[in-house]
Amino acid sequence: MTALLSATGLVKSFHGMRAVDHVDMEIPEGRVTGIIGPNGAGKTTLVHLLTGHLMAEAGRIEFDGADITALPAYARVRRNLCRTFQIVDIFTRLSVFQNVQIARITRHGRNWRFFMPAAGEAAGEVEVALKEVGLWELRHRQADQLSHGQQRRLDLAVTLATGPRLCFLDEPTSGVSPHERDQMLELIKLLAKAHRTTFVVIEHDMEVVFGLCEWITVMHRGKILAEGKPDAIRDNRAVREVYLGEEV
Ligand SMILES: Nc1ncnc2c1ncn2[C@@H]1O[C@H](COP(=O)(O)OP(=O)(O)O)[C@@H](O)[C@H]1O
Ligand SMILES: [Mg+2]
Repeated sequence: MTALLSATGLVKSFHGMRAVDHVDMEIPEGRVTGIIGPNGAGKTTLVHLLTGHLMAEAGRIEFDGADITALPAYARVRRNLCRTFQIVDIFTRLSVFQNVQIARITRHGRNWRFFMPAAGEAAGEVEVALKEVGLWELRHRQADQLSHGQQRRLDLAVTLATGPRLCFLDEPTSGVSPHERDQMLELIKLLAKAHRTTFVVIEHDMEVVFGLCEWITVMHRGKILAEGKPDAIRDNRAVREVYLGEEV
């Protein structure tokens, strides 16, 4: 199987400490992948490198057969390689509807000055996207009036509005209630089935990814500690030690 994304030898240091230390990774199209590891393992830094928010000191990244190592984030988005951030990234003073509408319009490469004429065209697509994430009823609400879980779902709708082929979700359930967490996981499952988007979910909580992902990569101290199917990871001794060690 040829990988949709493949990275080899990625390195990134902060103040002499290697946050990502020679990481190789392959992400095939259509498989829901989880990246787990304790806080500080290097998960977010790895996603920053893969999505172009940070440049690697060494290594190479290929996406859809092309070398994207030197491309900045916006150029990777244009190639349909997207992500959500660990912290929700929406326009809090705009309505739920407007947030998704802007994402749709800018995806089609329109200038801000043409925002109003373009608005009608995107409305149908915005409706579909908001119904999909369960926020259609709340479309007129200002985004800062939503619960944290609802904001996370809006953030996801905004990202999906750009039509990603590969989408990294950095801790999509962090800070939400247990009920909203389960809703979010169900939503990601549905989206993974319904869309042609390949999802990679980053989490520090093992249980979250076990029910969701078909393949799990475990990071520890900047390196890949283990990779495999959820059952194999659950039984992996080194992984258990890392997680139990964290709890002690
Ligand atoms: N911008 C930064 N400046 C300095 N150190 C950083 C920066 N970002 C991350 N780090 C360090 O790199 C390591 C990995 O962090 P991170 O990638 O955020 O881990 P994770 O997402 O797995 O919790 C940690 O030791 C963290 O303190
Ligand atoms: Mg992180």
